[in-house]
Amino acid sequence: MTHLRAAITGVHGYAPEYILTNQELETMVDTTDEWITTRTGIRERHICKGEGKGTSDMAVEAVKGLFKKTNTSPNDIDLVICATVSPDMVYPATANIISDKVGIKKAFSFDINAACSGFIYALTTASKYIETGAYKKILVVGADKMSSIVDYTDRTTCVIFGDAAGAVLLEPSTNGYGLMDAILRSDGSGRIHLHQKAGGSVRPASHETVDNREHFVYQEGQAVFKFAVTNMADVSVEIMEKNGLKSKDITWLVPHQANLRIIEATARRMGLEKEKVMINIQRYGNTTNGTIPMCLFEWEDQLKKGDNIVLAAFGGGFTWGSIFLKWAYDGGK
Ligand code: UT7
Repeated sequence: MTHLRAAITGVHGYAPEYILTNQELETMVDTTDEWITTRTGIRERHICKGEGKGTSDMAVEAVKGLFKKTNTSPNDIDLVICATVSPDMVYPATANIISDKVGIKKAFSFDINAACSGFIYALTTASKYIETGAYKKILVVGADKMSSIVDYTDRTTCVIFGDAAGAVLLEPSTNGYGLMDAILRSDGSGRIHLHQKAGGSVRPASHETVDNREHFVYQEGQAVFKFAVTNMADVSVEIMEKNGLKSKDITWLVPHQANLRIIEATARRMGLEKEKVMINIQRYGNTTNGTIPMCLFEWEDQLKKGDNIVLAAFGGGFTWGSIFLKWAYDGGK
């Protein structure tokens, strides 16, 4: 029997119009364009502005674009999974809100929170629904309005993050394309280095938590950096070895865009030249769950049926992992 795999059959992305440059950040906090570019590789990031605009609004733009280019009707969708750390509301799930806003009525929808690894967790989860044969069209969304949880008086975090959303359509494939393998990991002891202190059940919102600025991203950058470099590279090498892939077999590495130095270290460990690595961190910063689908979207025209692609991510939790997939269509069709 031919193995049923989950293949990405379309991708679309959206970044809001407003561009926050390093130069503008220089006027907001004690930083320099030179520090930001040499330490992170980031030059600018997009920010979602406007009263009442949330993560779902960016995701809706990505999903509508995806529907149009893949000729998909909202009625065709069986399941929506949204990976996000900046949901519109604590509940309901942002996936529910996206479904409502784009007119999806015959699906169930839920969110996945795995910080910056959320998109690869969501893609892997969705692939299992396809592989059972029970689901035919699944939307996997990665979206974050990081500007809603970033403290713009904290120079150690506010220069890093940006806002964006991306969405892929997953469908069954019986001809050898699609998700081939995934390795996902987590280690909750890493939470001390990267978390949001208040707003959860341990420390609900109060005047004190707001006064203490505890509703923003808290990150011990150097500690996270060490774990990110090691784990993202290790898991990417592990998926290569597990699937008998040599450097020359890999067409593209699609890394989470947290820091150019982490991306370069991962590519080096995998033995990949930089031409094979998707990098757009300079224009978007770290958009958390938006990074990987935004890369796929921007490189879609260059992708060919049968390309061997490795996705890799590391994020808060800690969470990390990699996916090996065979691209299922010639891009830009
Ligand atoms: O997305 C998922 C998980 N997140 C990551 O993977 C992020 C991992 N971490 C990183 O990317 C890096 O650690 C950062 C980009 C966050 C920071 O870079 P770093 O090279 O690790 O810098 P650092 O935190 O060691 O700080 C070095 C110095 C410090 O000054 P002192 O103590 O040496 O005087 C900081 O206060 O740089 C200072 N600094 C800044 N200076 C100018 C920190 N932020 C800034 C800034 N502008 N924006």
